[in-house]
Amino acid sequence: MKLLATIFYSIIFLSSLFSYYFFRKEKRLHKTRAKLPPGSMGWPCIGETLQMYTQDPNVFFASKQKRYGDIFKTQILGYPCVMLASPEAARFVLVSQAHLFKPTYPKSKEKLIGPSALFFHTGDYHARMRKLVQSSFSPEVTRKLIPEIEKIALSSLESWANGQVINTFHEMKKFAFEVGVLSIFGQLNKTYTNKLKENYSILEKGYNCFPTKLPGTAYHRSLMARRRLNQILSEIMNERKEKKLVTNNLLRHMLNFKDEKGNTLSDEQIADNIIGVLFAAQDTTASVLTWILKYLSDDPKLLDMVKGEQKAICESEYGENRSLTWSMTRKMPLTYRVILESLRKASVISFTFREAVVDIEYEGYLIPKGWKVMPLFRNIHHNPEFFAEPENFDPFRFENPPKPNTYIPFGNGIHACPGNELAKLEMLVLLHHMLTKFRWELVGPSDLVQYSPFPVPEQGLRARFIKEPTANKCYF
Ligand code: HEM
Ligand SMILES: *[C@@H]1O[C@H](CO)[C@@H](O)[C@H](O)[C@H]1NC(C)=O
Ligand SMILES: *[C@@H]1O[C@H](CO)[C@@H](O)[C@H](O)[C@H]1NC(C)=O
Ligand SMILES: *[C@@H]1O[C@H](CO)[C@@H](O)[C@H](O)[C@H]1NC(C)=O
Repeated sequence: MKLLATIFYSIIFLSSLFSYYFFRKEKRLHKTRAKLPPGSMGWPCIGETLQMYTQDPNVFFASKQKRYGDIFKTQILGYPCVMLASPEAARFVLVSQAHLFKPTYPKSKEKLIGPSALFFHTGDYHARMRKLVQSSFSPEVTRKLIPEIEKIALSSLESWANGQVINTFHEMKKFAFEVGVLSIFGQLNKTYTNKLKENYSILEKGYNCFPTKLPGTAYHRSLMARRRLNQILSEIMNERKEKKLVTNNLLRHMLNFKDEKGNTLSDEQIADNIIGVLFAAQDTTASVLTWILKYLSDDPKLLDMVKGEQKAICESEYGENRSLTWSMTRKMPLTYRVILESLRKASVISFTFREAVVDIEYEGYLIPKGWKVMPLFRNIHHNPEFFAEPENFDPFRFENPPKPNTYIPFGNGIHACPGNELAKLEMLVLLHHMLTKFRWELVGPSDLVQYSPFPVPEQGLRARFIKEPTANKCYF
């Protein structure tokens, strides 16, 4: 372990050394009167990477904000950064001046996901792909998926209630993956689904590993799995190209796409966007669901109230098929607020990255061209000015709408999450069946947080699920 850590930090050290020289050269070019934001760049070469990695990252950001205010500079992984912790600044970067900033990811990660995935892009290509994705995940489309999402939810829940202790986060990931596959492909042959699942799980294991093409490393295995995913996706596309079905899923929309000049999308562009959507959809939704379980377990009174709301739906709304409809999912105000509050408190996407494409002045401070810019969602969601006693889990705070731009769990502006309606819908469906037909107990401690890299309770929240024996209208 020690050796690995040493190698890791030496690499960070070397890479930051190079960028330090670029950084120094650039600094001399800026002739504006505006000054850099306050903050420390850490030791000249390493920046503050060590602190960020050795402390709880949330403590790191929060203590910076306390010391320097809502806008401060630092250096992460060798890149000079400006961090922004106010709603106005986040809006400036993501919405009103979004054209001055571009998304930025390491090349090694782009390669794993696929360089044509929409979130790496700006301009025309991004706008076109985004329109496609948004139309495939609009409420009008996703509401028709409810019966299929219910099937996935019920079979997941049944599989958890077999007496074994489960890792909640892992199980939620499987659920979110299957809903992702459903929303992308519609009905898909189980053989394909399994091949996608196996290869995708190899892919994601290398995502946060050191990028090297040396055989035997996690990153290399990941790249190989990515290639196999392309094969599987080509097979599926070829099959679908033959059958010209009129269905409303993302793959169909991408296959039918033609721009003004009659250009279509290549198989590669389609594949990259499919993997991109699976990537954006899985761990985010799964970690939020895991936190919901944790927050409800910690507050038995609230849990009873939410169960009451869900049981009332079986009692008064279930038809002969005993299944959910769209309008029933709109009658769950408390459950919905539990979801909103979990998104706030857990803030699983704590921040995002952009890069300044020109020198920019904001509030008298200079953000130099090429610097990374990080809107800090979590700091905004945990600011007592906007959310009183922010460490309390209080769904009732959402009885009043939050102040404008202070609640952004799905981001904001042209890159805001196009999957947010689907994410909330699949959470409501799973919670409905979980709260009316099952109970659970946590196993072992759950108060520490683990970063995977999304925050989740330690060991993914170990739990035992039990099917409720009582018969009432909620049961089949
Ligand atoms: C609770 C679950 C989710 C959370 C918290 C979440 C959050 C976010 C956030 C904060 C962004 C913006 C990132 C940025 O501006 O840099 C984003 C983008 C995105 N999300 Fe989600 N997301 C969730 C679920 C989903 C689902 C289920 C899907 C797809 C079905 C999805 C697809 C996407 C895509 C494609 C983008 C990129 C959009 C673009 O660049 O134009 N997300 N998400
Ligand atoms: C699914 O695919 C497998 C192998 O490609 C094939 O044998 C099977 O018949 C397919 N099932 C359906 C329902 O199409
Ligand atoms: C991955 O995909 C290939 C098809 O390209 C398939 O043969 C294989 O079973 C899948 N799973 C694994 C673990 O490689
Ligand atoms: C019950 O399900 C059947 C078959 O899936 C469907 O035809 C029918 O319309 C449903 N009835 C109600 C009241 O939703």
